Amino acid sequence: MVLNITCIPGDGIGPEIVNQAKKVLEAVAKKYGHEMKFTDILMGGASIDACGEPLTDEAIATAKAADAVLMGSIGGNTSTSPWYKLPPEKRPEAGLLKIRKALNLFANLRPAYLYEELAAACPLKEEISKAGFDMLIMRELTGGLYFGERKTVEENGELKAIDTLTYSESEIRRIAIKGFEIARKRRKKVTSVDKANVLDSSRLWRKVVNEVAADYPDVTVEHMLVDNCAMQLVKDPAQFDVILTENMFGDILSDEASMVTGSIGMLSSASLNDTKFGLYEPSHGSAPDIAGQDIANPIATVLSAAMMLRYSFDLDKEADVIEGAVRQVLKDGYRTVDIYSEGMKKVSCSEMGDLLCERV
Ligand code: IPM
Ligand code: MG
Repeated sequence: MVLNITCIPGDGIGPEIVNQAKKVLEAVAKKYGHEMKFTDILMGGASIDACGEPLTDEAIATAKAADAVLMGSIGGNTSTSPWYKLPPEKRPEAGLLKIRKALNLFANLRPAYLYEELAAACPLKEEISKAGFDMLIMRELTGGLYFGERKTVEENGELKAIDTLTYSESEIRRIAIKGFEIARKRRKKVTSVDKANVLDSSRLWRKVVNEVAADYPDVTVEHMLVDNCAMQLVKDPAQFDVILTENMFGDILSDEASMVTGSIGMLSSASLNDTKFGLYEPSHGSAPDIAGQDIANPIATVLSAAMMLRYSFDLDKEADVIEGAVRQVLKDGYRTVDIYSEGMKKVSCSEMGDLLCERV
């Protein structure tokens, strides 16, 4: 099979980690007789520096023509980088929002689970973490506050900023369906998270989720207010299977969930539309403080590449092989610095890539 993949190395540690993922994909391709065709595009700060904008229309066209997109990370230090002196629509993050919208990537899957081998890194008390946890946050990605009308106006001699949160029934329905479909393949529980005690958009969310739930009698559904969910994530994370939520709540809760695992450098994500097309990226950011030092953890990106093989190409066996290689490398005691603990073998980003290739 020929796999046409657009890569977005991006900023910070992005290029280093994407290189390792490419290496691992090449190793898988060699093993199973596939052909990887990688085309790089610029996005974020790298694109601002080269083209004066965070994402060009040509770059979008290249991404659209591919079967899938594999991304590293974008953005720099928000207090020191000159990118953040630009107006908001010219900053690195605007490129990410633009590609999400342009490719209609409305379903953002963010798994968060506790690795047995890394359980010591979990910041929760042992009495809580010993139960283990394995959840998937299904975040709506192209609606809500992120894409609502916004403006800053002057009123009565002072500035006033307005952001609007809108959701239509169809936007809620399509992400709810994705949530229930994936729950069916997991432990069959959906926790829909909203703020229905305050927001109209949340009340509509709850109504539509209940309608969709009626089509999935085998899946248990519960509703949880977002503030309570933030609390439950540290109190009893084992209760969650699929967390289904809107854009902003999902942004915040997914950071919390990944922190609770203690190993954000291990967590992958996928952003999907209604076809097989998807954009795959690690859940972590661009870590500009350690960029270029070859010490970043490439595993989240490598696992994102595995998700890509699974969801965009239906290559389940190949994805299993990558995930197996990750587990094996951990069992063999290799750790990048972010997940290092005493007695383990500390390796660089590129060494980790090589070790994974060997195990593939
Ligand atoms: C994320 C990031 C983005 C978001 C930023 C960089 C715009 O935090 O993917 O979670 O808020 O969606
Ligand atoms: Mg975020």
